[in-house]
Amino acid sequence: MRKAFVVGHPIAHSRSPLIHGYWLAEYVIAGRYERIDVTPQDFPAFLQGFRDQGYVGGNVTIPHKEAALAGIDHASDRARRLGAVNTLWLEDGKLYGDNTDITGFLANLDAACPPDWAERAGTAVVLGAGGAARAVVAGLAERGLGCIHVVNRSPDKAASLTRLAPDQVRAHPLDNLATLLPEAGLIVNTTSLGMTGQPALEIDLAPCRADAIVSDIVYTPLETPLLAQARARGLRAVDGLGMLLHQAVPGFARWFGATPQVTQGLRDHVCADLVAGKGKSQ
Ligand code: ATR
Repeated sequence: MRKAFVVGHPIAHSRSPLIHGYWLAEYVIAGRYERIDVTPQDFPAFLQGFRDQGYVGGNVTIPHKEAALAGIDHASDRARRLGAVNTLWLEDGKLYGDNTDITGFLANLDAACPPDWAERAGTAVVLGAGGAARAVVAGLAERGLGCIHVVNRSPDKAASLTRLAPDQVRAHPLDNLATLLPEAGLIVNTTSLGMTGQPALEIDLAPCRADAIVSDIVYTPLETPLLAQARARGLRAVDGLGMLLHQAVPGFARWFGATPQVTQGLRDHVCADLVAGKGKSQ
């Protein structure tokens, strides 16, 4: 029986067991996926010792993503670029790590939008400059968007994201938002604003292009005030649940040997659990 884990501190909130458990049942794989709570102090020992407990790999979440990068033998280009690892596996006795948030973000847009969404968008506005924004900006830069405007309350944090792709990324204070919106073909919220229990993101989408795509990485509620406004204006709205589901695909494939599909059945399964909860990441 192959066993994988999600390790974090705390870890009770993680939806990853729900996702991987669904796929294990769907593909009739005799595997297990378990939550493990490990403190930062104990994480280095866990990283070195999980193979002795019979695990083939797992997901890493807050607060261990940076420590995971420091403690592995081989990091993917994306993990190094983001400075964080969220997926671990063993290969030839060595410990490998990747960051699948970029894959998750891009695969979600690929599934929800026309195939040429990146070329059509041309320019993006990304709200927020935290860890999630890094993955979004790196993904958009990979897809060749000519201009990626990062708009953030703290301008220095926005400026730090320009290093991901200096030719494409520009940093701005929140005050610039209204002037940037008319040129953007894609608007992505990566802040926690709009999440259940948080204030809504204050943004007026009136000046947006008629073909703009509006995406939120918050998925509780599934329809955030931002997405509701986008839909009301006839814009394409892409919710945050897809990113969570798609980022889980590469890990499952590595640990359990089958590439799973993100289906409506999986969405319904996770949505049923979200009704009572809240969250925006793994
Ligand atoms: P994550 O790793 O999930 O992206 P994070 O690193 O805490 O989370 O980042 C949260 C983002 O939301 C930040 O860009 C934060 O802005 P600051 O860099 O100025 O802190 C943004 N954010 C959170 N609450 C906000 C608020 N009330 N108004 C504007 N921006 C907010």
